[in-house]
Amino acid sequence: MPNIVVVGTQWGDEGKGKVVDILTPHVNVVARFAGGNNAGHTVVVGREKYVLHTVPSGILHPGCRSVIGCGVVVDPGSLIEEMESLVQRGVTLDHLFISKNAHLIMPYHPALDRASEAKLGKRRIGTTGKGVGPAYVDKAARVGIRMADLLNEALFREKLELNVAQKNRLLREIYDAQTFSVEEILNQYLRYAGWLAPYITDTALLLSRWIDSGYSVLFEGAQATMLDIDHGTYPYITSSSTTAGGASTGTGVPPTRIHGVLGVSKAYTTRVGGGPFPSEMSGPLAEAIRARGHEYGATTGRPRRCGWFDAVIGRYAARINGLDTVALTKLDVLDQCESLKVCVGYRYRGEILTEFPEDENVVAAAEPVYEESEGWRAPTAGAKNEADLPAKARRYLERLEELIGVPFCLISTGAQRDETILCEDSPLLRWYPSVRSSLV
Ligand code: IMP
Repeated sequence: MPNIVVVGTQWGDEGKGKVVDILTPHVNVVARFAGGNNAGHTVVVGREKYVLHTVPSGILHPGCRSVIGCGVVVDPGSLIEEMESLVQRGVTLDHLFISKNAHLIMPYHPALDRASEAKLGKRRIGTTGKGVGPAYVDKAARVGIRMADLLNEALFREKLELNVAQKNRLLREIYDAQTFSVEEILNQYLRYAGWLAPYITDTALLLSRWIDSGYSVLFEGAQATMLDIDHGTYPYITSSSTTAGGASTGTGVPPTRIHGVLGVSKAYTTRVGGGPFPSEMSGPLAEAIRARGHEYGATTGRPRRCGWFDAVIGRYAARINGLDTVALTKLDVLDQCESLKVCVGYRYRGEILTEFPEDENVVAAAEPVYEESEGWRAPTAGAKNEADLPAKARRYLERLEELIGVPFCLISTGAQRDETILCEDSPLLRWYPSVRSSLV
């Protein structure tokens, strides 16, 4: 049974939630491997809309196991709130498993996140303010507190005392911000421990046993390629490994047991927060795309910056993640455009670059080189086959595939599961032959 990674190819919010939700009936396990409650996966099931932040979208399918891997940072208060709201809506949590090694977001992390952003001034990252960056800082600095520590009060207290002493000094002396009390955090987190204890386990071992017994695992990425700590537009990135390699380190499943990578791209591009965005649009066109695509952050509600499809980034994401196939989302948002642009290169100091530059100064100064085509100006929502799409929409898709060098497997034309076209001859049908019957 194939074990497949799903990753975003742009700056996040590509619609990974919908794609994972379509594939979940065909797998046994969905595993989150990076990020925290900075993510917001929107899944629409019938009339119900779910926005998930830390819980994998597999939870919406009874029988599918959902794993929060060691690469994820967990805010236990926010996770419990999400779990309670799922239970209230009739979703069972029997199959939720949280890695013992996942690091905790502590109350001082969001405080440090906000204080650090305020100090950065015009170089601020535009984080979600959830404390994700500072939690990963502690993980790398080897002072982080992990899920397993919640189950050992003495150890938890010892680690907490060390951290609170250190963070309070930082908050008071560097940031002039409010400090924290060990006892208050201890009481609050021990209550969380009571709630979460049944779910905390050795998920790497479970995944290994499940794969041995023939289970199929879907690795659900959060954020996206261009926000990856190593491969994204540093420093305007999130603090985890969001690309396909992160699926392995973030769950403990070795690369040799992963069989393919599916990228999710929007038919245009969006970004929330600061940082370079070469194909960014401005003015009424950006407003129109934002309105049609409901481009507001699922976690913070911030308006997303909108831009044309960037094929340089598409090709880069294909290379960094080893994409086998791409699901293209939100094609319908472009239905009313009179003309469409695709960024095919960057102009920098008189040269045309077709590979994504590693140097952040080059990315910041890069000007987009566009290819322009006429829009199709007809509805695409509800099309069941590629052949049902307007000819100009088909040409647009063919050109994107050609530019990024990866075949499409799904074309999404709306938020509902059935507003999805399945492309013939894609690796997806080899991995999950039964996906065809579930989409008709
Ligand atoms: P952080 O992950 O909260 O530290 O934010 C770092 C950067 O990643 C900011 O530009 C955020 O807007 C962006 N970011 C984090 N999570 C998401 C997401 O789920 N979608 C889109 N952007 C995100």
